[in-house]
Amino acid sequence: MAIHRNTSGTLTQAQLTHPENLRELRQGLLGLPRRISSKFFYDDRGSDLFCQITELEEYYLTACEFEILHQNASRIGKIVAGSRGNTAVSILEAGPGDGRKTQIITRSFANLFDSVSYGAIDISPEALDVALQRVSQDMDIQTHSVIGDTLHSLPDLVSTATGSRLFLFLGSNIGNYASDGAARLLSVIREALFPGDFVLIGFDLEKEQEILIPAYSDSKGVTREFNLNLLKRLNRELGADFDVNEFEHEARYNVEAGAMQSFLVSQKRQKVNIEAMGLDLVFEQAEEIHTENSHKFTLDGIESMASRAGFVPIEHFFDTRNYFTTSLWKIPDAAPV
Ligand SMILES: C[S@@+](CC[C@H](N)C(=O)[O-])C[C@H]1O[C@@H](n2cnc3c(N)ncnc32)[C@H](O)[C@@H]1O
Repeated sequence: MAIHRNTSGTLTQAQLTHPENLRELRQGLLGLPRRISSKFFYDDRGSDLFCQITELEEYYLTACEFEILHQNASRIGKIVAGSRGNTAVSILEAGPGDGRKTQIITRSFANLFDSVSYGAIDISPEALDVALQRVSQDMDIQTHSVIGDTLHSLPDLVSTATGSRLFLFLGSNIGNYASDGAARLLSVIREALFPGDFVLIGFDLEKEQEILIPAYSDSKGVTREFNLNLLKRLNRELGADFDVNEFEHEARYNVEAGAMQSFLVSQKRQKVNIEAMGLDLVFEQAEEIHTENSHKFTLDGIESMASRAGFVPIEHFFDTRNYFTTSLWKIPDAAPV
């Protein structure tokens, strides 16, 4: 197994102290409303808490996509294989988390291709370690990884891939981006890939708030802990002094945005210092920090997103409850010259 990563000892985008992260955090915390990007959730503790969330009864998204992949991985592999008649495939992925979904694909593709390789990009080094170990634990597969933000570092990942390419962006991670951000990310993916390549992308579908709200505010309090861990992370890594007991997690559906949104709500008027940023903040009682968007999608919306970004939707795969779709898109083959 070959693992190529940033070993130069320089700051990576996984670290909050990276200048770009400090800039983004400052801008968000001084904005109105205040914001912290959801990409900062995933330190070791955050990645671990997210794994716990995926096991919750209320968090239906993971169970739905597992079902979809178990039912359809082989069919997806045949479409990718049939397209060019290649015997080698490169599976690439942004944000694999713990890699359990990836493993369904890699195992299934091993029966269809002579050679399967896997490359992943993630902002969390811990997630990358777990995912790469998982996919290589029971098969001979060449792997490589890039630590970083998908938006900035994706070309580094794609440059190493050969054969047919399938790019995975699962778990409705796309829903964390606002519509202009999602369009930008899709165009980065489109630019990094080549004609004839495929993209498999997960979308959580619009549904009743009675199902949505518990998924982001579960009865065991794991999503609450996940959200509050952001403040603990700022305390640990940036010398901030957030009193975590004086903030509360809240998840609401924003009808206009078509998104579940998570907030950290200040329980009283309080001052916070973030030492590494030289920043003093005053939070009023009930003032919020917006920490996550999880957009919900319609099939029409998904298809127009695909075509606006230069992809052709090939097939949508659904779970039995029709809560979620994992959608296979293709970059049109280049016209013969
Ligand atoms: C919600 S988890 C989803 C994991 C997995 N794809 C799934 O479907 O269960 C998000 C993953 O994306 C990573 N991530 C979040 N924002 C990122 C970004 N901007 N660039 C790269 N990785 C990111 C996190 O570290 C985590 O591994």
